[in-house]
Amino acid sequence: MKVSQMVLLAMLTAGCASEQAYDPLQDYEELDSSTLVDAPTARPGSFAPGDRDLVNRGEYLVELLGCGSCHTNGAFEGNPDMSRPLSGSRTGIAYTSPLGVRFPGIVYPGNITPDVETGIGSWSDEQIANAIRAGIGRHGKRRIATMPWQSYSRLSDDDVAAIVSYLRTVEPVRHRVPTEVAPGRRAKEGFVYFGVYRSREQ
Ligand code: HEC
Repeated sequence: MKVSQMVLLAMLTAGCASEQAYDPLQDYEELDSSTLVDAPTARPGSFAPGDRDLVNRGEYLVELLGCGSCHTNGAFEGNPDMSRPLSGSRTGIAYTSPLGVRFPGIVYPGNITPDVETGIGSWSDEQIANAIRAGIGRHGKRRIATMPWQSYSRLSDDDVAAIVSYLRTVEPVRHRVPTEVAPGRRAKEGFVYFGVYRSREQ
């Protein structure tokens, strides 16, 4: 099948909406997609592709794999808060389509600094590895929505160990991200939506 046009959209909620003639895009603002591929980490620019040191390698991988582009607050808006990198995003990601329903389900990229209460400080290495490679939440029950764990599923054990080692060295930040919002409920915080759309025209 020929894909004639693909458009990547990312939007933020804004303002209030009228109830008549629902235009699915009326509540959204298009973001500059370049802001969405930035992947800020604690120490930007410290790439070390050949480094065998576990922590340095972990930092390199976290930067390469773009963890900060979701897990650092403000990154979606192109304004990452680098005083608190990787401490979670107050802007959520819709995992059901806001184009079809008024109030989509939303998850918030969590705090992955080693803070014990609000981050992953009390998670075991295995729990963190499972979240990254298999998208399994802490208690092993729920699938993590929207995190691109499928892309990370073939990371080697060494690479995952490096990522975990690095995450354990990041400054712990006390920051609890908003609770996820079930579909149909109105979210109190903003959110973005990632989607790929194919034109129906040939
Ligand atoms: C496209 C955005 C995105 C990217 C990129 C991303 N994550 Fe996530 N991640 C999420 C979201 C959203 C959640 C929470 C999902 C949920 O609550 O169901 C999450 C959850 C997690 C969790 C579980 C912690 C928690 O509090 O739920 C860990 C650990 C994690 N991510 C680590 C990483 C690492 C390490 C990387 C880079 C290799 C990464 N993530 C890249 C979006 C992302």
